[in-house]
Amino acid sequence: MGITMKQLLVLAITTCVLTYPALAADKCNPQDKAALLRIKSQLGNPSDLSTWNASTDCCGGWKGVSCDTDTQTYRVNNLDLTGITLQKATSIPPSIGDLPSLNFLTLSQITNLAGTIPNTLTKLTKLRYLYISHTSVSGTIPDFLSSIKTLVTLDFSYNKLSGALPASLSSLPNLVGITFDGNSLSGQIPSSYGSFSSQFTSMTLSQNKLSGVIPTSLSNLNLAIVDLSGNSLVGDASVLFGAKKNTQKIALAKNGFAFDIGKVGFSSNLNTLDLRNNGISGTLPQSLTQLKFLKRFNVSYNSLCGQIPQGGNLQRFDAYAYAGNKCLCGSPLPSC
Ligand SMILES: *[C@@H]1O[C@H](CO)[C@@H](O)[C@H](O)[C@H]1NC(C)=O
Ligand SMILES: *[C@@H]1O[C@H](CO)[C@@H](O)[C@H](O)[C@H]1NC(C)=O
Repeated sequence: MGITMKQLLVLAITTCVLTYPALAADKCNPQDKAALLRIKSQLGNPSDLSTWNASTDCCGGWKGVSCDTDTQTYRVNNLDLTGITLQKATSIPPSIGDLPSLNFLTLSQITNLAGTIPNTLTKLTKLRYLYISHTSVSGTIPDFLSSIKTLVTLDFSYNKLSGALPASLSSLPNLVGITFDGNSLSGQIPSSYGSFSSQFTSMTLSQNKLSGVIPTSLSNLNLAIVDLSGNSLVGDASVLFGAKKNTQKIALAKNGFAFDIGKVGFSSNLNTLDLRNNGISGTLPQSLTQLKFLKRFNVSYNSLCGQIPQGGNLQRFDAYAYAGNKCLCGSPLPSC
């Protein structure tokens, strides 16, 4: 018995209906897909990006690529290339600037990622989180970043960046934190950094080559976390303290800061106070015994003097946390 014309028609329609969802499943925006394929090519077609295949949906299983499912535009909004390996020294692909809906960009722990930060990033007018860390990226932290007004967090830790901190970053209205640890950044902390918006709560610049006097304008900030350890900064870092601030961590170790610790107030939320290896003077204030959350504390190798306040968490730290001062005494050091 042969298949009738009618049966053929039904078969054809059924086949169409059944295969249509497979075609429609490619949600990827064609411009985004083209940009991603250019990025892959600019990275030297690394084997870690073998899932980036032109014949598949970039919103469905391309390593490190996510699309906007909330608004159902399916534009690429997150690119995370953490941990991929490049065959040879390669710059950050300029075509990343052709993903206009990007909110998150993470270029972290990428072997052989080098060169400078490209100015095509300024085309990313929705970019909120920019992470470039543990790479060989060099050059300066560019001034043009301050034109990306949507930026919330900048993390450029552990690269090979050098030169001055861009003063213009303080004009970014939504910026919450900068994390620039472990580079070769030099020069002074710009005094404009005292005028970050009130949302700005985290400044970590440790292990760089920053020098000069800490600007007094920083007293305007209410930082939850500040880490300036391992630089060559000098001056009165008491501007970072204050009993009315919400500070949790103050790390100033290994600089040349000099101020009277007896005159500073401490946030009741303080959990970390690392002041080792500076030129801090005065007597440890009794208010330190009131800090309920204090769990990391080191004031060794300063010019402190007088009795260590007894009580609170202060005797939980061993003698090494107080060693190398001018004339500190009392538990855990020998009695006065
Ligand atoms: C993409 O996928 C198709 C079908 O699975 C395959 O034939 C092709 O070789 C792939 N292309 C690349 C560049 O991997
Ligand atoms: C405090 O710092 C000194 C000097 O760097 C170090 O030897 C000591 O181990 C530190 N102690 C604690 C408890 O962190």
